[in-house]
Amino acid sequence: MSSTDHIQSKLSDGILTLRINRPDKKNALSLAMYQTLADGLREADCDDSVRVILISGGADCFTSGNDLGDFLSVPPTGPDSPVMQFLIAISETRKPIVAAVNGLAVGVGVTMLLHCDLVYAGNSATFQMPFVNLGLCPEAGSTLLLPRIMGHQRAAELLLLGEAFGADKAQNLGIVTAVCPDDAVLATAEKRAGQMALQPAAAVRLTKALLKRDYAIPLRETIVEEGAQFMARLKSPEATEALQAFMQRRKPDFSRFT
Ligand code: COA
Repeated sequence: MSSTDHIQSKLSDGILTLRINRPDKKNALSLAMYQTLADGLREADCDDSVRVILISGGADCFTSGNDLGDFLSVPPTGPDSPVMQFLIAISETRKPIVAAVNGLAVGVGVTMLLHCDLVYAGNSATFQMPFVNLGLCPEAGSTLLLPRIMGHQRAAELLLLGEAFGADKAQNLGIVTAVCPDDAVLATAEKRAGQMALQPAAAVRLTKALLKRDYAIPLRETIVEEGAQFMARLKSPEATEALQAFMQRRKPDFSRFT
């Protein structure tokens, strides 16, 4: 498994841990980081020594989502872009995925959790999907998965207003398995991953596949459609204003766009 400074990977007792580690940028995901994650997931799925994948971040930040500077300088342009490879890989990985979330989970930091099988979050974790706030649209199949998990109105509130919410709400909405004390999140996730690694692997893979059977095809179609719309939105005046406002540390002004 390739390990870089920003994505650290470690295989131990059948658990492949992929740790997002770019603390100076709140673990924002660059192109190279998406590529390393996509490659790691795909390799893990074919490697018999990996029985469970665990995705974690830092003690105060899971990830602040896509690197917003990259959206301006090296935006994704097609289905082969590293972000699309990552989204397809995480949504189609046959092996179980456990997530340990401390601190901020923003954008894809939330939507990637919809593809994980067990999600443990610290009690002060904060979640936010500000795609619309950035003039963009949701991704990672979230427009299919969120209403399926929580119903249209609750999904619409999260996506259309893009407000931050806490771990208890995330658990009530069904996107977090359990909330733990902040300092117990990683240990809890590792313990559950360890339990799963001892389960019969073929039965685990089959059960995961059956759980997703009725939406596997529409999920891929949704990820591809959202991806195309998202890439088009990146060129929109609304997104340009929002991204420039972030870089210039000011509030965006959408009043002149209709
Ligand atoms: N992309 C690129 N850089 C990011 C980033 C992102 N998604 N999130 C944070 N950073 C950078 C900041 O630019 C800053 O860099 P600098 O020190 O070189 O100026 C550094 O990380 C620290 O971020 P800062 O904003 O100072 O921390 P904060 O605690 O005040 O706020 C966030 C943290 C995550 C709430 C805020 O940075 C933010 O809103 N980021 C954007 C999140 C986002 O919209 N993600 C994409 C969703 S699609």
